[in-house]
Amino acid sequence: MLLHTDGPPLRILFVTPECAPWIKTGGLGDVSLALPRALAALGHDVKLLMPAYGELRTPPGEGRLLVRHAAAHPWPAWQVVDAGDAVREEHGFSLLLLDCPERYYRPGNPYLDEHGRDHADNAQRFALLAHAAASLSGIPQGPQGWHPQVVHGNDWPCGLLPGYLDHYARGTGLPRPASLFTVHNLAFQGLFPLELAPELAVPQAWLQPQGAEFWGQLSFMKAGLRFADLLTAVSPTYAREIQLEPLGFGLQDLLASRAGSLQGILNGIDPAVWNPATDTLIARRYDLDTLDAGKAANKAALQRRMGLPEAPTSMLLGMVSRLTEQKGVDLVLDRLPLLLELGAQLVVLGSGDPALEQRLREAAAAHPLHVAVKIGFDEALAHQVEAGADAFLMPSRFEPCGLNQMYSQAYGTPPIVHATGGLADSVVDLEESPRTATGFSFGADDAEALGQALQRAHAAWLQPQTWRNLQRNGMRRDFSWQASARAYVHAYRTLT
Ligand code: ADP
Ligand code: GLC
Repeated sequence: MLLHTDGPPLRILFVTPECAPWIKTGGLGDVSLALPRALAALGHDVKLLMPAYGELRTPPGEGRLLVRHAAAHPWPAWQVVDAGDAVREEHGFSLLLLDCPERYYRPGNPYLDEHGRDHADNAQRFALLAHAAASLSGIPQGPQGWHPQVVHGNDWPCGLLPGYLDHYARGTGLPRPASLFTVHNLAFQGLFPLELAPELAVPQAWLQPQGAEFWGQLSFMKAGLRFADLLTAVSPTYAREIQLEPLGFGLQDLLASRAGSLQGILNGIDPAVWNPATDTLIARRYDLDTLDAGKAANKAALQRRMGLPEAPTSMLLGMVSRLTEQKGVDLVLDRLPLLLELGAQLVVLGSGDPALEQRLREAAAAHPLHVAVKIGFDEALAHQVEAGADAFLMPSRFEPCGLNQMYSQAYGTPPIVHATGGLADSVVDLEESPRTATGFSFGADDAEALGQALQRAHAAWLQPQTWRNLQRNGMRRDFSWQASARAYVHAYRTLT
């Protein structure tokens, strides 16, 4: 029935540097699982290509070899393996692993070494991902007759892909698949020395401002924005913000010049993973009917786990975040005196910038009854914070989409957010619309504005009826991927 309304199924190659549950550093990992899954559920033929990092190495005998390429200047030998039926049965799409031991067999974070530094060969590693994706796309040769109609790349690691598709297609006489490139975060651009161009098979013609040159460097992100047929950003507000300073990060003019081909599509959330009624990682499952008891049990469990007093009368604020300037955790630390004055408690789960990690540890040491911090990446605790906190903090300076504010609404945990990007598009403020509100948002990205929002939230939390209304509105919202996946399909169809 879905197919009927949506038109014939499309063949889609989705290319990404990370995909949960196999490897995830942030929201792109979640999106890379959920969107292909939602597209497959709409009846489309989806293959997902990602590198076979250390943990993903296919054991001999498992998986089906699709293509093997001998080393051919400038590329090392590589092959693509279809991870097999189990993935297809579970998720609906085929997982294709790009196997190249010298580039990808490294444990841990896909972008960084064990000292937290970018891998020295990231340009070569992700150029190879784009090259392999272009090769799989039938140009110059495809796997066993499968020829995608659309190739969808994500963020700078896939930035060279649209241009490669063009370049390789020229003169082959083969139809070039359409290309769509999604911006998840323009703050990371993949900037490398121009001198690497020959090693990356980047044509000379790209090495100028009208191509992919950016202040004397080669920008993978700019290449994607320049050469893709269609661009999307992960929320409508972010799609507008990146056409201006400061969130265009120097690419605003290029983006504005492509405004007609740039669309914002809000991410969804995966209800199979983020749903308080079925979540096996939380202390007690709950839904709209069991909200009060469920929240109370999860709050007490979170307080216990984090070593905070089990105080039902303290408002418990939660935060789960990469610790970078983007996420505004420093604003929360600046506002700590106010939190203490309100008698609130704060739980933070995150990792990243060592200076922010240190400030958080110090805050927890100084205020053990009110602040608890876990530095690290902990999927189960992330769910427990969503379920156990009274309110969720997301004071990001900018936020292309953001997922946690949507998770928190699904968990009856009203978010307190800076009104930017996807946060502006997904949270309804209490003052703005008392009846339909789901949380609190503030306009300026400073500690003062955050403080006012915290005070408003605390006052509302003291009024059980107001609070319950916020919780219920949030839990009733539909952030499922279906609508967003349809928007992508619509975008793909304009290209085919
Ligand atoms: P971003 O991609 O910018 O980090 P998002 O809000 O889109 O922000 O997605 C972040 C994702 O990563 C969420 O699923 C969140 O729960 C998860 N996450 C971030 N930090 C941690 C952490 N320390 N432990 C567990 N999960 C985390
Ligand atoms: C990026 C953004 C985040 C977004 C995620 C998934 O990591 O920082 O806002 O939700 O990508 O699109």
